[in-house]
Amino acid sequence: MTDIKGKRILLGLSGGIAAYKAAELTRLLAQAGAEVRVVMTEAACRFITPVTMQALSGNPVHTDLWDASVPNNMAHIELSRGCDAIVIAPASADFLAKLALGLCDDLLSTLCLARECPLLAAPAMNLQMWGNPATQRNLAQLRADGIAILGPASGDQACGEVGMGRMLEAVEIFEEIDASFQPKLLAGKRVLVTAGPTLEPIDTVRGITNTRSGKMGYAVARAARDAGATVTLLSGPTALAPPRGLERIDVSSAQEMHDAVMARVAKADVFISVAAVADYRPKEAKGHKLKKGTGEMMLELQPNPDILGTVAARRRPPFCVGFAAETENLEAYADAKRRRKKVPLLAANLAQHAFGADDNQLILFDDAGKHELPRAPKIVLARALIAHIAKLLPKK
Ligand code: CTP
Repeated sequence: MTDIKGKRILLGLSGGIAAYKAAELTRLLAQAGAEVRVVMTEAACRFITPVTMQALSGNPVHTDLWDASVPNNMAHIELSRGCDAIVIAPASADFLAKLALGLCDDLLSTLCLARECPLLAAPAMNLQMWGNPATQRNLAQLRADGIAILGPASGDQACGEVGMGRMLEAVEIFEEIDASFQPKLLAGKRVLVTAGPTLEPIDTVRGITNTRSGKMGYAVARAARDAGATVTLLSGPTALAPPRGLERIDVSSAQEMHDAVMARVAKADVFISVAAVADYRPKEAKGHKLKKGTGEMMLELQPNPDILGTVAARRRPPFCVGFAAETENLEAYADAKRRRKKVPLLAANLAQHAFGADDNQLILFDDAGKHELPRAPKIVLARALIAHIAKLLPKK
């Protein structure tokens, strides 16, 4: 579930081999409930056919500035009105140059100039074309004009070279479009998020960990970023890909997470502690692989620092948000935990309902009482949490 449902999106394709990704993007947008209208340049039609785009979008594809079937014979006006966003993917070097200069000699460039809605462009080109000062000059102009440039990424290119200029993947562009519709509730704020489990070493190959996937913490980091915050994500060991547009720092043990948080917390406006931090660690981590003995084995544990508790106890703490995963007595335990850790906001869930899943349900506890967030995808809950934080943040 995203905020794309019901949105009218005009997807423009200029010429580039990455045009095949636009087919997948159209499918993702249509599946999410967007109404997608596709406009292609002449060059784009050499890479992928309008038939494909028509089948995936469910709407006729437009290619011609002089299309007589469009009301008033003004395709450029007709198509750009009522759109929530225009997305150019792929955006070729040539098309970006046109946009930067305000040229309009075909349908797509003309409707971009005639638009009343936000414009997002996902560049796709060879690395030398990307690095060329002319392209960089055009990009600076486009950014100054308020056009959102999505990517590009670095990697293998169709020409056989490797470097910057690869168009983002369809799902990444989809997420960027979704993010562009989010209110910028945390603009100018610096947010520190911890996520995932920690791993407490027993020896060089073994450790104590938990089953936390990191998905909720990653969703919170993404929601904060989408709300306009500068986000640092301190992540325990997870299998998740780093979200785009934020700084991810990988840590392993609770002590490492503690140290990484303490090194950054003074600059944070908000600290959201989603990580499932191990409360104890083996007293001594052996520097070699332990060998099997014959009898029982004792493992002596010592407490780890309470990261959230330490941050909340600072003289001038950031706005602190805790998470509590309980298996029973959720409300009583969570409320008590909030008071014990002295945090203004705590999000609680039943552990057995959340771990590893893509959705969850949360109860938020604050000074005003409890607020239930019904079962929903983690990104939806994360956005509701961010909106709640924005409401509680002290106004400067
Ligand atoms: N937390 C932390 N450092 C720890 C333990 C927990 O920062 N060493 C944070 C978690 O990130 C979470 C909150 O404290 O935001 C509550 O974590 P939880 O494990 O539920 O609470 P504990 O205080 O460890 O209590 P218990 O395990 O007894 O429920």
